[in-house]
This record gives sequence, structure tokens and C-alpha cells, in this order.
Amino acid sequence: MSAALSMPAGGTPARAPGGATLELSGIQAGYGDFQALFGVGLRVEPGEAVGVVGPNGAGKTTLLRVISGLIRPRAGTLRYGDRDLTQVPPHELPGLGIAHVPENRRLFPHLTVEENLKVGAFTRAARAHFDARRDHVYELFPKMKQRRHQLAGTMSGGEQQMCAIGRALMSGPKILLLDEPSAGLAPIVVQQVFELVRRIRQEGLTVLIVEQNVAQVLRVVDRAYVLETGRVAAEGRSAELAADPAIRRSYLGGH
Ligand SMILES: Nc1ncnc2c1ncn2[C@@H]1O[C@H](COP(=O)(O)OP(=O)(O)OP(=O)(O)O)[C@@H](O)[C@H]1O
Ligand SMILES: [Mg+2]
Repeated sequence: MSAALSMPAGGTPARAPGGATLELSGIQAGYGDFQALFGVGLRVEPGEAVGVVGPNGAGKTTLLRVISGLIRPRAGTLRYGDRDLTQVPPHELPGLGIAHVPENRRLFPHLTVEENLKVGAFTRAARAHFDARRDHVYELFPKMKQRRHQLAGTMSGGEQQMCAIGRALMSGPKILLLDEPSAGLAPIVVQQVFELVRRIRQEGLTVLIVEQNVAQVLRVVDRAYVLETGRVAAEGRSAELAADPAIRRSYLGGH
């Protein structure tokens, strides 16, 4: 286990965070005639863990798709440091240090765990680091090493989520975009996934995580945005949001 991994949860990152500030402002986006995002603004500094929470259909996945270039915004600005991401094709994002773990994992079910990791290291630069990064992923998730020859589609939901995160790490990202990593998992496995997010964080990675599991995600992130019907309804530090009566009522089952 590396020094970074033996850090206590919630500790200072063991490595200086790299990458740049991700900044969105006034983002409008949708599908055909349907508008899903109405002027969304968001900012993630290097080394931060930021959450986006909100109900089904709020536009959380759409927001991550906009960031990773899968859909283009109709209006607004989207910058990563000095780069205008609206002008960057999706396949160039790994080269910029941005990796997206999509909703429902999207593994290749008929490929093995290790073959899925190879897919995550498709750029020439990433191929050169394949062995070291794979070993690092296996160190983070010893279970993936045991299962490296198993077909991804035959693994449990939690294992598939770990594999999807592992695959994203193979491109050597600076910022990881995670879309509902806890969806469909049993509570004990949800704990493991959030623990993993914490460890990834401590390694100096920046994390933007979309979640419906508001109570859990607020324990892992520094700040969060509440998205409701395509608009940012609230934002703040995790502790402030967790104490907010309206948030407690709507999202935390509080009174
Ligand atoms: N490919 C698509 N074509 C048309 N409409 C879409 C498409 N994808 C999403 N939408 C619509 O956009 C809106 C926002 O969807 P989105 O998937 O971003 O929500 P979400 O917050 O991620 O929800 P969930 O928590 O259920 O994953 C929804 O009304 C949805 O029906
Ligand atoms: Mg979604």
C-alpha cells in the first residue's frame, strides 16, 4: 500500500493536486426541442471534491455530458483552465486530464476486467503508462486483480462500478467526473464506493460527483450544488447544505 493510501479518511491530499479550474457559466443545453439545463453555473478548483445532487430528471447527467463534450451547450461558457471545452472533441478530453465514469458504468460486458482497463488507456500517452497504472488500480482495488480475467458483465454491481472507476483512472486523469456511482448498490457496497472516492481524492485528484444519495455524498465532498429542473437551486459547503432545513426536508428525510 502506498503512503497516499494509508492516509486517514478526510486527510489532506498526499500529492499536490494538478489540473486546472473547471468553470461553467450560463450553460443551456438539451436534446432536440427539449431544454434540460437553464443557465447552469459551476466551478471546481484543483484538488476539490464537488457534488451535484438533485432529483431524477434534474439534468445532472446532462451536465456531465456537456462537460465531457458528448452534448454541446446552446449557450454559456465551459472552460478548463485556459481551454474552451466547447471547442474540444470528446476523444481529446483524456489528454487534457478529464475522465468521465458514465451513468450505469458502461463497461464492455464481454471483455475481461483487464481488457476494460486497456480500453481506458487508449491514447498513445496512456498506453505508455499502462503497466504502472494497471498495477496502481489493482493496488486500489485488490479485488480487480483477483478478477482480472473475469468478464466484466459477470461481476456484481459494486465490482463493475470499481472496474468503471479503474478504467477511468487508466488515462491518468486530473479530474474525475462520476455519474451516480452508488446507484443500484447495496448499502455496504455504497460505503465502499464512497470510501474509494475519498481515497482517490487523497491522491490529489479532483472529483466532480453526481449523486442521488445526498446524505452520503455530502460526507465526501467539500461543496455541492443542488440542481432542480435544470437550474442551480442551492450551493454551498457540504456542512452548510447538510444543516439547511430546506435541504434536509427535501433530500435528507429531515424535518
Ligand atoms: N437522450 C435524451 N433525449 C431526450 N431527452 C433526454 C435525453 N437524456 C435525458 N433527457 C431528458 O433530460 C432531462 C434531464 O435528464 P438527466 O438524465 O440529465 O437527469 P438526471 O438528473 O441525471 O436524472 P437521474 O437522476 O434520473 O439520472 C430529463 O427530463 C430527461 O428525460
Ligand atoms: Mg442521471
